[in-house]
This record gives sequence, C-alpha cells and structure tokens, in this order.
Amino acid sequence: MAPRSRIIGCGSYLPERVLTNDELARKLDTSDEWITARTGIRQRHIAAAGELTSDLAYQAARQALESAAIGAEELDLIVLATTTPDNTFPATATKVQALLEVNRGAAFDVQAVCTGFLFALSTADSFIRTGQARTALVLGAETFSRIVDWRDRSTCVIFGDGAGAVVVRAGEEGEGGGQERGILSFHLHSDGRLGDLLFVDGGPSSTQTVGTVKMSGREVFRHAVVNLADVALEALEANGLTIGDVDWLVPHQANKRILESTARKLGLPAERVVVTVDRHANTSAASIPLALEEAVGDGRIRPGHLVLMEAMGAGMTWGAGLVRW
Ligand code: UT7
Repeated sequence: MAPRSRIIGCGSYLPERVLTNDELARKLDTSDEWITARTGIRQRHIAAAGELTSDLAYQAARQALESAAIGAEELDLIVLATTTPDNTFPATATKVQALLEVNRGAAFDVQAVCTGFLFALSTADSFIRTGQARTALVLGAETFSRIVDWRDRSTCVIFGDGAGAVVVRAGEEGEGGGQERGILSFHLHSDGRLGDLLFVDGGPSSTQTVGTVKMSGREVFRHAVVNLADVALEALEANGLTIGDVDWLVPHQANKRILESTARKLGLPAERVVVTVDRHANTSAASIPLALEEAVGDGRIRPGHLVLMEAMGAGMTWGAGLVRW
C-alpha cells in the first residue's frame, strides 16, 4: 500500500479588523445576547478594503510553509477551497502560486462552500497517494463579508473572513515506527436536491452579478446535526475505530449549538472539541484549517493523536476525515 500523506505544517491568517456583536447591534435590529445565545459567536474578523481572498491565503500559506520548514519551490500542488474567489477566473490558487513566486505543478480551486477544505484536502491526499504529487499546499480562504447582505440580520451576523493552510507530504515507508500516522481516510457527500437551503443569488452564468447569501437557517441546522454525526461514525467505522479513540474533533465552525449537539449525539466530551466559532464566526472553507492551526500551535494536538475533522455546507455538501497526527 502507498505510504499515507502526512500533514507537516499548519498556518492561519485573520484580518486585523475585529467586528463585535455590539457594533453590529448599533447598525441592525440584533443584540449581543441574541447572537451569543443562538450561535456562540462574539466577534468576527473582516478583511480590509482591497484585501483579497488570495492575500489572506498567501499569509496562511507562508506560515504553513514556515512551520513545515520547507520552501515554496518544493510544492508541486496547490489546492485552494473558496466560495469567495478574487475573480470568477483565474482560480485563486493560481494567484497564491504567483504570490509565492513558484510555478511547479498544478494550482486550482475547489468549491464545496463550508465543506471545501475537506474536499480540497481529500483531493491533495488522492494526488499524493497516486503519485501525481509529493508535496501539496492545501488552503481554505474566504472573504465571506463580501457576499453577505449586511441588512439581513439572520445571515450577516454569523460569517467572518480568514484563511488557513496545511502542507501535506507523501509519508516515507516505515515512518512512524509501525503506527499508521497520516491521513487515514475521507468520506465526502453531496445532495444537490438541497441546494435551495443555502445559496448565493448571483453568479456569472445566472445574473452576471455576485449576489448575496440566502439561507433557511433552521433547515440547515437540522440537516447539519444529523449528517455530521452520521458521517463522523462512517469515518470511524471505515477505520475500525470508535468515538472513544478520538483525541480531538476539529469541526467546521458554523454555530456553537451545532458543535455541541453533534458532540452530544456522538457521545464525545465537550473538552475534546476544538472551538473557535466564538472568535472567528463561520469562516466557511477556512474554519477547519484555522482551528487546526490553533490547536496544533497551542500543543493540544500532538503526534500520535487521532483527529476527526467534519464539515457541512451549501450544496448541500458534508464530509469527515480522520488523521493520525
Ligand atoms: O456552514 C453552514 C452555514 N450555516 C449554518 O450553519 C446555519 C445553521 N443555522 C443556524 O445557525 C441558526 O438557524 C441561526 C443562528 C441562523 C438562526 O437561529 P434560530 O434559532 O434557528 O433562529 P430562527 O431563524 O428560527 O429565528 C428566530 C427568531 C426570528 O424572529 P421571530 O420570527 O421568531 O420573531 C428571527 O427573525 O430570531 C430572529 N432573528 C434574530 N433576532 C435578533 C434572526 N436573526 C436574528 C438576529 N438578531 N441576528
């Protein structure tokens, strides 16, 4: 069997500007109490005028490369998950490639909204396992603040901007002293019949405008809790593992109540869930790599730990991935 892909570095970037719930409450009919009670969100970061998704991604990429102790010239694949690309084309991944001043291999975007990072990481893992790439940069980056309707209190309060990155490399034969370290598996799903629950009402082919987010919040919430628990169990079962084996759950950060309900449904203690939604809000494709970088950076996630990642987003799309760190 081909050696597993290993995550050898993490990086993240959050724009400087922090927007608090109280600030939002001065412009909208909402309150810090409502937002905190319903979502667990206290603040979000907002990109500066002129600061693009590729700029956020580039900062996260530099940190990830530094933590992996490799140069950008070693990359032979860049996969970037975003639903807020700089432009309709070219892919934002190619803009990051240019900012990194490299040109080896392939760079492209994937689009699975909040599940995007898992789709991107799974793609890179497949490239590595089949020998098409050896060292990949995988990014989740969003400027979601550009596609929310700032007059719609039911959506604009829950999103934020940010970027996260990981460097993934083909593992060496015999590495890890017999323990199977690296990416174990991914389990990805989509159901396009549920597209109307969460979408943007614009696009190059439909309206020739960018559009803004439309969401049936309660329905999305309901699907999230069911699908996230199911796909987490699917990932564990496929590897002969149980929830008791999981050291850390690193979920997409949509809503604290979704995180808590999923953990409860799985029987996972709250202390083993990495939570950033209070400070970052929902950064869509960026939320998992942002949370990973935080938990690896502060020493919670350590070598040998079993890390379960999971996400749910528009499409609908959902998925889970297991990594032996
Ligand atoms: O990555 C996937 C992305 N999306 C999600 O994860 C969204 C999942 N859904 C949710 O997180 C929740 O459904 C929301 C946080 C969006 C909404 O919470 P909820 O408990 O489902 O509230 P609701 O939509 O049922 O609305 C309850 C009330 C309504 O008022 P009435 O009709 O009962 O008078 C809303 O108009 O809360 C009102 N409301 C607000 N009030 C104050 C909605 N947004 C706000 C707000 N501030 N920001």
